[in-house]
Amino acid sequence: MDREGAVNRLIRESEDLPERCAVRFRTKSGVCIPMDMKGNPRIEMASIRGFFVEGYHVINHCCYTIQIKMERGREMKLNKHMLSLLVMIALLCCSLNGFAAHGEKKSEKKAILLVAFGTSVPEARKVFDRIDEQTRKAFSDVEIRWAFTSKIIRAKLAKEGKMMDSPEMALSRLMNDGYTHVAVLSLQTIPGEEFHELYQNAQLFGQMAGGFEKILVARPLLSSAKDMEIVAGTLMKNIPGRKPEDAVIFMGHGTGHHPADAIYLAMNQVFQEIDPRAFVRTVEGNLTIETLLSKLKQLKIKKVYLVPMMSVAGDHAKNDMAGDEPDSWKSILTRNGYQCESILKGTADYPEIVEVWLDHLRTVLTHF
Ligand code: CO
Repeated sequence: MDREGAVNRLIRESEDLPERCAVRFRTKSGVCIPMDMKGNPRIEMASIRGFFVEGYHVINHCCYTIQIKMERGREMKLNKHMLSLLVMIALLCCSLNGFAAHGEKKSEKKAILLVAFGTSVPEARKVFDRIDEQTRKAFSDVEIRWAFTSKIIRAKLAKEGKMMDSPEMALSRLMNDGYTHVAVLSLQTIPGEEFHELYQNAQLFGQMAGGFEKILVARPLLSSAKDMEIVAGTLMKNIPGRKPEDAVIFMGHGTGHHPADAIYLAMNQVFQEIDPRAFVRTVEGNLTIETLLSKLKQLKIKKVYLVPMMSVAGDHAKNDMAGDEPDSWKSILTRNGYQCESILKGTADYPEIVEVWLDHLRTVLTHF
């Protein structure tokens, strides 16, 4: 029986088991790694008929133990059949992982780790699915995994049964799974605080003994004048219905405590060169919306288009930009006499812009 067959049988057998129990394959070292229903180590928890198969781990190629864990603290007796099936799956996984002897040179195994802030908004989640698809198309022979940096979003998703890794957890798993070369792509917009934390931790993973041979971090979206021109050009082309006399304000995130906030000033200049009625302002940081009001008046603007300059049209775009709260950009501009129209699409909605990120990934992969 192949691995998939074994797992399918496991699913059939699971009908006899009490509802909502978790299965973990636990190693001597006590580490658990999630496994999907095909027996591949995965970040997502598989839930079939209320039954979670949560993980397995193989250390030194063959040592493992199996742990069945119940939710709601109930004890469960495994029937023999079930246990033997689990052992069989573990062995199948094990054999596929190979039985290389100690000291043998590891063959090259490449992986890409896509790192985003994360989102709990389902429509924004679809954007990540498209990035995933575009990345898989571009790098078909490389393992691709995801991590979310936001703890709050990971906790929110976990409540819905969607387990997402932090970058550090994802890197541990990649190391554990024997990957030798890892390219980390920061799906952030600017090389700000989040990027620097990611970079620092990736470097530290690279220093571990017996781990990766090489780990490189690809740059975030706005990392060169060329990147900025492509992003600005694409966003400007996608404002349906805008007349030349209408203004456009792009909402960047901004940061009050990182020098990379200056990139938003540079981006504002790039837009200004394309169109004197296109501006960048930020939620946080120095370029607040208030700094633009006198300029809009001076230009005798009547209508303003509001567009997020963030990877997804998430919470900031929906509430701080286009929301009805009195302090949203829409409300502030409306109070000042401007007609507002919001476009709820993030930069990652446009394949041309995703391509800028993928180009950064390509650059890194040529160094392997
Ligand atoms: Co924010």
